[in-house]
Amino acid sequence: MIQQASDSTDNSKWQPRIVAFLCNWCSYAGADLAGMSRFAYPAAIKIVRLPCSGRVDPMFIIKSFEQGADLVLVSGCHPGDCHYTSGNYHARRKLLAFRELMTFLGIDPRRFKISWVSAAEGAKWSSLVKEITAEVIALGPFENYSKLRAGGIAE
Ligand code: FES
Repeated sequence: MIQQASDSTDNSKWQPRIVAFLCNWCSYAGADLAGMSRFAYPAAIKIVRLPCSGRVDPMFIIKSFEQGADLVLVSGCHPGDCHYTSGNYHARRKLLAFRELMTFLGIDPRRFKISWVSAAEGAKWSSLVKEITAEVIALGPFENYSKLRAGGIAE
């Protein structure tokens, strides 16, 4: 059971939207542990559970921004702990290369995070979510793709 608690620190109307792709075996379990341990973290985060961080395709990230995300997080098992041996190494290599292209796509690379969280790190998950929520609040809303969301293509 994933439990989220909200931080009511932001009084403006805009609420950040964070999409998090979590591997089932470590990071999702870590987020679950945070919930069961009652570690509060901001409700801005929407979790997508995948078998492994290696499953994350860069298109998932682009689509998340297109659909209104202000920040995207990918989290999986620590290096050496992947349930599928090397999925997180593939993820790291692929997604760090993708980050290099983000500026070209009109997305500030600071809006994309990768972090390793194990099933035993509920407290780390809670502080990670607090930290990235504070960062995205400082960055403000991601509006470069807003015309795509509205159904129109920028001229
Ligand atoms: Fe967790 Fe591969 S199973 S990163």
